[in-house]
Amino acid sequence: MSERKPSPFPILLNNDVCSLIQAAENVYQIRFKNRAANAYLVRGKSRTIMIDVGLSSNFPHLLECLNHVDCPPEKIDMVILSHEHLDHIGAAWHFGGRTIIAAHRLAANKIMLRDDFSMLRKMFNEPDVPINVDIWLEEGNLLDLGNFHLNVMYTPGHTSACISLFDQDQGLLFAADTLMPGGVMGGVFGSGSISDYIQSLERLKGLNSKILLSGHGRLSDTPQDDVRIAIQRSHGLLSDTAQLFDALDARSNFEPIMQSVRDLNKLDDA
Ligand SMILES: [Fe+2]
Repeated sequence: MSERKPSPFPILLNNDVCSLIQAAENVYQIRFKNRAANAYLVRGKSRTIMIDVGLSSNFPHLLECLNHVDCPPEKIDMVILSHEHLDHIGAAWHFGGRTIIAAHRLAANKIMLRDDFSMLRKMFNEPDVPINVDIWLEEGNLLDLGNFHLNVMYTPGHTSACISLFDQDQGLLFAADTLMPGGVMGGVFGSGSISDYIQSLERLKGLNSKILLSGHGRLSDTPQDDVRIAIQRSHGLLSDTAQLFDALDARSNFEPIMQSVRDLNKLDDA
């Protein structure tokens, strides 16, 4: 077995709950050791942003990391939410008011409607406080931070509302739960689709990415390998899903759903 090469990314702070890791100049990963997703800080020349913020319960530790690099919340112009899952966005309400919160249109809609099923509220047991999204993003938007130019890519699949951010000059790919190191799959949740997931991964494969900054796990300097493995696995998942649906008696499974729709329509007619 070959020995694992040492990580090229320096650890700046390490405690029981999280590590602060430098991904590139002025780019930091806050990697939580519990169920919270990774948070990222990008300090541009003209604007400073965060991409995801983790769980609300981790906020004191997030603050410790931000203060360590002399970037308290009042210096952060915008928080971008990669999608609606609470392990990524739970702490966002702490930033509300002074910092602009942005998410893809479909994620913003779910968050503003407080769609707990889509946000996985039961899974994460987060405080039930509103998160207000100020800017609704779309594919093709560009975030100009001065020395970073982050392209917003709509990459659905894990959910219907996932975005990735790509800085072409430096090859930085913030891919949240769409692409993870080693090609680990983020899973397909309620509003997601395995077919959409495959198309999103194919789009990420076409980028000249150099560093993968994903929603869970370590930083990766082999995003091209990661995406190839993820595409293979996603095709495996597609055929497993097809077999699963074949094995189920589709008619008996769909009948209760169809009946509830018929009942609902009857109420509307009344
Ligand atoms: Fe997620």
